[in-house]
Amino acid sequence: MSAVVVVGAQWGDEGKGKVIDFLSEQADMVVRHQGGNNAGHTVVVDDKVFKLHLIPSGILYPDTVCVIANGVVVDPATLLDEIAYLRHEGVSTDRLLLSSQAHLVMPYHARLDAVNEDRLGAHKLGTTLRGIGPAYMDKAARVGLRVGDLLHPDYFAARLRSVLEEKNRLFARAYDVPGFEFDEMYERYLAYGEALRPFLANTSVEINRAIGAGDRVLFEGAQGTHLDIDHGTFPFVTSSHPVAGGACIGAGVGPTKITQVYGVVKAYTSRVGDGPFPTELTGPQGDHIRERGSEYGTTTGRPRRVGWLDSAVLRHSARVNGMTGIAVTRLDVLDDLDELRIATGYRYQGAVLEDFPEMLPVLEQVEPLYETLPGWRQSIGQARKLGDLPKAAQAYLARLEDLTGVPIVLVSVGRDRSNTIPLTELF
Ligand code: IMP
Repeated sequence: MSAVVVVGAQWGDEGKGKVIDFLSEQADMVVRHQGGNNAGHTVVVDDKVFKLHLIPSGILYPDTVCVIANGVVVDPATLLDEIAYLRHEGVSTDRLLLSSQAHLVMPYHARLDAVNEDRLGAHKLGTTLRGIGPAYMDKAARVGLRVGDLLHPDYFAARLRSVLEEKNRLFARAYDVPGFEFDEMYERYLAYGEALRPFLANTSVEINRAIGAGDRVLFEGAQGTHLDIDHGTFPFVTSSHPVAGGACIGAGVGPTKITQVYGVVKAYTSRVGDGPFPTELTGPQGDHIRERGSEYGTTTGRPRRVGWLDSAVLRHSARVNGMTGIAVTRLDVLDDLDELRIATGYRYQGAVLEDFPEMLPVLEQVEPLYETLPGWRQSIGQARKLGDLPKAAQAYLARLEDLTGVPIVLVSVGRDRSNTIPLTELF
């Protein structure tokens, strides 16, 4: 039995796509279990760049079954576009399974996302405006619509009519913006349902059957631990559970079935959207890392905020995810720096904090305590084993292990599949 969960250990965009793609080669099944098309994974295969938002990147391997499980919120138009894009690129989507229980992202969710952000003004969250938060709100409020509803036209009609009535009242009275017409939306979504029908499955049954049969199953987390609605920097978070436990709920798999939890750690830190970021670099050094790392959002194209590695962030991730290994990505982005810094903890009102603070007002005032390490000032993209890395790069990785207490299992030194140094058997 082998069921591996891969999570982002920082604020998303850690390079999970690359790590998941690497692991997918050995996987029989890859599962997405939370988030929606707010996520974006970039995978490079033979210099060809694939950008995926909903479909697991495992789809690029011909024999891997890919699952969009119940915990994902699905915008059917985006999903169908992605299916068409992959087919156009010659990639088969015959092995894609979609949970009937996954909630739908509806057009009114995106509009609600926009009016909410507008209302917050200077205090906005910096969401991706894809309607993800409002879709999860409706799920929790028990008025959400699910993918499987689309195959039951009368049931879907009744639920859509009821929810649309309430949303339209909200748009008109609270926000003074136009609402949506029932007939057009109903017909359009029924057509989406027909187009998605071949992919629908009871995905919890399929995933558990695969685990039971001894298949290698990979759970691909989206976003990152510090964007988790419970364990992230609330309220500057997404509305799902990117932590490892989210895989159990979002895929219908018991915790006893999970065998490994790998945290993906970018060799520095980045964050897109608003919210606290203690080790942020706002000057030329930050600009340099942003440009060298092409740190612009896959989904929205926004420039990402960048900063030094923060071990308080990573210890928090190690704890709430039960991380058994770390996959370090983008180490090569740091190739030409004279020296590197790692935050070992924070100073807050004269005291030293080793743990990542739970409350925003504290987090907003902490001052990182840094340790400085020498840079390696050479190109490392060709390294294929740990010993090929310069001593300074090895020392940086060793310090990362010391500060987190979690062993490094893989190091990525470039965008391509070949620029990868696995340090152990991963499945
Ligand atoms: P939402 O998920 O669109 O509601 O956005 C909430 C917060 O999560 C914002 O700060 C977004 O920038 C951030 N976010 C959402 N998805 C991703 C992602 O895939 N990578 C990085 N940040 C993300």
